[in-house]
Amino acid sequence: MTGPLPDPALDALKTRVAGAVLGPAIEERGVVTALADGLAVITGLPGAGLNEVLTFATGARGFVLTLEDDSLHAAFLDPMDGVAAGDAVTRTGDVVSVPVGEALLGRVVDPLGRPLDDAPPPDATGFLPAERPAPTIIERDFVSEPIETGLLIVDALFAVGRGQRELIIGERQTGKTSIAVDAMLNQADSDLICIYVAIGQRMSAVRRVIEAVRGGGVLGRTIFVVAEPTAEPGLRWLAPFSATSIAEWFRDRGQHVLIVYDDLTKHAATHRELALLSRQPPGREAYPGDIFYLHARLLERSAKLSSARGGGSLSALPIAEIEAGNLSAFIPTNLISIADGQLVTSAALFAANQRPAVDIGLSVSRVGGKAQWGAMKAVAGRLRLDYTQYLEMKMFSRFGGFGDAAMKRRMARGERIAALLAQDRFAPLPTLVQIALLAGLNAGLLDDVDPARIAALKTALPPILAADTRLDGLRADLTRLDDPARDLLLDAVRTGLARV
Ligand SMILES: Nc1ncnc2c1ncn2[C@@H]1O[C@H](COP(=O)(O)OP(=O)(O)OP(=O)(O)O)[C@@H](O)[C@H]1O
Ligand SMILES: [Mg+2]
Repeated sequence: MTGPLPDPALDALKTRVAGAVLGPAIEERGVVTALADGLAVITGLPGAGLNEVLTFATGARGFVLTLEDDSLHAAFLDPMDGVAAGDAVTRTGDVVSVPVGEALLGRVVDPLGRPLDDAPPPDATGFLPAERPAPTIIERDFVSEPIETGLLIVDALFAVGRGQRELIIGERQTGKTSIAVDAMLNQADSDLICIYVAIGQRMSAVRRVIEAVRGGGVLGRTIFVVAEPTAEPGLRWLAPFSATSIAEWFRDRGQHVLIVYDDLTKHAATHRELALLSRQPPGREAYPGDIFYLHARLLERSAKLSSARGGGSLSALPIAEIEAGNLSAFIPTNLISIADGQLVTSAALFAANQRPAVDIGLSVSRVGGKAQWGAMKAVAGRLRLDYTQYLEMKMFSRFGGFGDAAMKRRMARGERIAALLAQDRFAPLPTLVQIALLAGLNAGLLDDVDPARIAALKTALPPILAADTRLDGLRADLTRLDDPARDLLLDAVRTGLARV
C-alpha cells in the first residue's frame, strides 16, 4: 500500500472489521460411502434438499433422490465411472432443472436437455425445475375441446379432451405406440405442440417414431425427450418429469400441448430399481409405497388452465404395458385410477387384423364426451351400442346362423362399422371426413357397400369434401350439424362411392 488511504475508504474498512463475526466457518463436506448401480450413498451433507444437484470429484453430477437421518441417496446423471467410496461430493444448491423454450421444437434431447441429435445444445429461453407443483383447482378449467387424433375409433367413441389424461394400455406389440404417434401426426395443421417421451424404449423403436414424425411433416412442432435403456437409471427416472416441465413452459404461455409417456411401466420399473438399491421397504410386487404418488403427481400436471391463467392446456397419453391381458396388476390398476380413461389394446384383436386393436368393451373416456364436437356427437351417438351388439351377435352366430331379416341387417351394419373403425398407421382421417362417413353409415348409404370399398372410400372422400366450399361453414364450426349440412355430407359420400 502506498500513502495513507483517503478517509471515507478507511472508515468503511473500519466498520467492516468491527462488524466481522469471528468463529468457526461451517462447511459441508460430502463423502461417498457406498456405490450401487447408478446410485451413491453420501454422508456429510445435512443441508442438501430433495432433487438438489450434487457434483462428484470426477465432475459427474447426480441428484438427491432420498434423504435419511444421517445420509442421502443420489442418482447419477452422468456415467459413474471413476467415482469411488471416500470421494468428496459438493452441493450445488440448485434443484435438477431442464432447459425450456421454443428452441427445443424439432429437437431430440435427453432428460437434461442435452442434444441427442448431433446438433448444438438448444438455445434455451430459461430453465425450469423438473418437479413442479400441479395447477390448483382454482387455476383449472373444465375440459371442453377435443384433441383430434385422426383415428375414427378414438375421436368417435373415446374422444380425448384438451387437458385430459387418457391411458393407452395393452400387451406388448399391440399398436400402443402407433396410436399415440398417429395422434401426433394428425397435428400437422393444428395448434398443438407434441412431446414424445421415450423411457427405456429400444433405440430402433424411437428412431421409427422420429422418422414417422419427420415424414408426417410435424417435426417442427414436436420435441423428443429420450432416456435410452442404457441411460443412467436417474435419467430414466427423470425423463417424464423434465419433459413435463418442457411442456408446461408452452402450457403456461396459453399454448396447447400433447405429451406421450412411452411408457410408464418401464418408469415404474426404474423407480423400483432405484428404491430397492436405496433400501426402501418394498411393498406390493416389490414396488415402494410411494409408486402411486409418483405417477399421480406426474399426471396431475396435465390440465386445462383457466382463462385467468392464460387458457393453455396440457394433455397426456401415458402408455402402459400389461402381461397376459392382466389389467388388474398393480401398476395398471394404479394408472387406470389416476387417468381419466383408458384405451385398451388387445392382442386377440391385433392378431385378427382389427387395427387399431382397441377393445371397445374395456376402453372408456371419462371426460372426452363433454369435449366432443357437437357435429361428431350428432352422428356417433349410437355407434358404440350398435358395434357392441354386432360383436355379441357375431360370437353367438358361430353356434348357428340367425334367420331373422332384422338381425341380418344389423350384422351387415356391424361389418360396415368394423370396416370404418379399421385404420392403417399413418393414415389419419380429418374430423369432417369422419363425420361424413358416420353420417353416411347412419343414413344406410354403406349397408350394401362391400367392406373393401369402404376402405377405398376413406381415401376418396377427403379431396371431395375439401373441394366443397359449401362446407366451409361446418368446417369452421363443428359444434353443431344442421340438416342442410348433413345433406351436403351425404352427397359427398354418394359422390365418393361412385368413384370407388
Ligand atoms: N393400425 C395399424 N395398422 C397396421 N399395422 C399396425 C397398426 N398399428 C400398429 N401396427 C404394427 O404393429 C407393430 C407394433 O406396433 P407398436 O410398436 O405401435 O406396438 P406397441 O404396443 O407399442 O409395441 P411395444 O410393446 O413393442 O411397445 C408395428 O410393427 C406396427 O407397424
Ligand atoms: Mg410401444
